[in-house]
Amino acid sequence: MTDLLSSLNERQREAVTTTEGPLLIIAGAGSGKTRVITVRIAYLISERHVAPHNILAVTFTNKAAQEMRDRVNKLLGGQKLAGAPLVSTFHSLCVRMLRRDIEKLEEGYTRSFTIYDQDDSVRVVKACIKDLGYDDQRLGARQTQGAISHAKNSGLDADAYAARVEAHDERRAAVARVFKLYEERLVNNNALDFDDLLIKAVRLLRKREEVRAHYNERFRYILVDEYQDT
Ligand SMILES: Nc1ncnc2c1ncn2[C@@H]1O[C@H](COP(=O)(O)OP(=O)(O)OP(=O)(O)O)[C@@H](O)[C@H]1O
Ligand SMILES: [Mg+2]
Repeated sequence: MTDLLSSLNERQREAVTTTEGPLLIIAGAGSGKTRVITVRIAYLISERHVAPHNILAVTFTNKAAQEMRDRVNKLLGGQKLAGAPLVSTFHSLCVRMLRRDIEKLEEGYTRSFTIYDQDDSVRVVKACIKDLGYDDQRLGARQTQGAISHAKNSGLDADAYAARVEAHDERRAAVARVFKLYEERLVNNNALDFDDLLIKAVRLLRKREEVRAHYNERFRYILVDEYQDT
């Protein structure tokens, strides 16, 4: 234990050893926040005897997740573990949850859903624009996809977006129709775009008590790096 904590200053040590209850750490760039999270995971496992399986760490990029895994492994230095903590990005965590339970959303999706990246989304939007007979010079696919994505992230579905379009705003009315068709095509293709991954995972947790219970039970300790960006 002294080994684990010896690489930390006093404030960091406090952050690592305060393991129970919610804890928010605010500190400047490069001040050692990620190091704290990494040591905290190792500390929970080796000093508080938390099962690795009960720990979830969330980061923003796959690279950060991989780095964190490597650093935790190094800190635990060859200790034989019963399982590993789950270190994941928000998106891959959502994919996991949806691969397990998306059918419980009852929106027509199955567990073998496809994921559309941004380029795929733009392609589908472009086809929708064309099939609705709009001029894709005037209604750009990339821009339209951006508007749809922004709406989805603000919690608007296609109908809610359409309801907000003002009568004289032809451009937004066109976007609304593209949005609606785009969403229909995604469901028909059993496909989720990047925004859906987050939206549908949250919806699943809200909707299904037993899914919530499952993750409450499993993830006793949740650590989020770069929380300010969530
Ligand atoms: N107590 C410490 N003693 C010596 N070096 C440290 C200490 N804490 C962190 N470092 C080093 O400082 C650098 C930055 O640490 P870290 O990446 O954890 O900071 P951060 O706050 O997460 O940074 P960012 O804001 O970029 O995410 C790393 O090289 C890390 O190993
Ligand atoms: Mg960091």
